[in-house]
Amino acid sequence: MAEEKKLFKVTIDNITIEVEAGTSVLQAARKIGGDVTPPAMCYYTHLKGSGGKCRTCLVEVAAGSAVDPRPMPKLVASCRTNVMDGMVVKSVTSEKVLDARAGVVEFLLINHPLDCPICDQAGECHLQDLSYEHGKEGTRYEFKRRTFEKEDIGPFIQLHMTRCILCYRCTYVADQLTDHRVHGILDRGDHSEISTYISKAIDNDFSGNMIDVCPVGALTDRTFRFKNRVWFTKPMDAHRNCDKCCGKVTLWLRGDEVLRVTARKDEWGEVQTYDGKPGWICNDCRFHKKHKNDWVVEGLTNISRHSVIGQGKYPGLQIPKETIPEVMGGKQPNLLMDIHSVSGVNDPGVDLSKIEGPATSKTFGNDDQ
Ligand code: SF4
Ligand code: FES
Repeated sequence: MAEEKKLFKVTIDNITIEVEAGTSVLQAARKIGGDVTPPAMCYYTHLKGSGGKCRTCLVEVAAGSAVDPRPMPKLVASCRTNVMDGMVVKSVTSEKVLDARAGVVEFLLINHPLDCPICDQAGECHLQDLSYEHGKEGTRYEFKRRTFEKEDIGPFIQLHMTRCILCYRCTYVADQLTDHRVHGILDRGDHSEISTYISKAIDNDFSGNMIDVCPVGALTDRTFRFKNRVWFTKPMDAHRNCDKCCGKVTLWLRGDEVLRVTARKDEWGEVQTYDGKPGWICNDCRFHKKHKNDWVVEGLTNISRHSVIGQGKYPGLQIPKETIPEVMGGKQPNLLMDIHSVSGVNDPGVDLSKIEGPATSKTFGNDDQ
């Protein structure tokens, strides 16, 4: 007879759910969804050992368990802390957590360049989202930022180490997905960098998945670099029979031209699972099948993360669940940054958050164009 699974009750931001013993606080929060879910820059469900590096997922444990309800003395990394029965967790309802997140973003941005206008990851960058949600408009850092030369690692991937936040995800892909590890993190502290040993090219069949797991624009697809901005493309779900991988992908189209092929992502930005297995895709599907005819197109991809693609009135947009009013007794989320208080450029008479779609010259009363 199958053993009955033990369930633990956990309360996160005043919402109580039951999850299986052994579930992390982060995974429990993802089951609730919306804003109570802590951001995660280094944890990746399908990569063993990931998590515990970036500290963006910190939460406050107000009661450790029903048996021992004492609070935990420090904020804990929710991706590496398992729930206990009767645990009470505060995420977005904790001032301490919000303050810590702002601090972590400030640290992550010490070296990360603010080159979003020319970065291929702009529009789908988790650090960009994180800094909009928890960052400050200025920096207190006065020293020289670390910079690196761009490096082609293999025929299809470019590494721009200056943007790397050392989350280790790509090294786990190299370790766990490819036949043998060909790159890792060298040196320590400010000198740490990911690198291929003796410049060995990453030419493994599944190496392209490193691009998909990179939360920032440090690893980019050389076949797509500078071809287009992501918000001008149209993502479509498609599949083909592939003997190496699941063959289920997202095609990023401009008209009928396939500009990029990626694995399909879920609402947390991680690859989707099929029959319990992660849907990693092979380099053949990713880099060599760039014609629409190579694929059976299924339809528009559902975009469920906060995404700039939604700005173009993309019909496949699924707005994520808004949990702040639910956990804050009906209170609406605060506007994190009022553009008029930090910039004199925008006409204060125009409330940009209330207009439909992007602003044009007509929004500012100029009918000439
Ligand atoms: S290159 Fe990207 S995935 Fe790899 S460690 Fe840096 S940020 Fe993480
Ligand atoms: S996601 Fe938990 S420490 Fe990075």
